[in-house]
Amino acid sequence: MIYITRREHFSSSHILENKSLPAEKNKELFGKCNNFHGHNYFMEVTLCGEPDPESGYVMDLKLLKKIIQDEILNKVDHSFLNEVEIFKNIIPTTENMAFVFWDILSIKINKGNARLYSIKLYETEKNFVEYRGE
Ligand code: NI
Repeated sequence: MIYITRREHFSSSHILENKSLPAEKNKELFGKCNNFHGHNYFMEVTLCGEPDPESGYVMDLKLLKKIIQDEILNKVDHSFLNEVEIFKNIIPTTENMAFVFWDILSIKINKGNARLYSIKLYETEKNFVEYRGE
């Protein structure tokens, strides 16, 4: 078993708010994150599998790049996440973003040799989440 990773970058804005709660409670819960602001996100998508004997690839990283571009980056880069369709009725925290990205990418990736192993999403240099579909 070997692991391959593609690292990507995107910039998005969001507001953290739970619409079912009053404004005052949202301020208390999210603090400054309840204001409109942006992040420069980095995402690492890791696949695992055995290399195909013919190509020597688990998955051609050009193909993985295209999947991430089409399915994720085109939707979220330079976007206001609260208004992006894939985050409808979801608070766009890093945790929830990783869940949504997992659901989208695993369908596209889990064919043939490769399996989606983890998504790491960095909101800042110091804060990131990792999701392994568990
Ligand atoms: Ni934020």
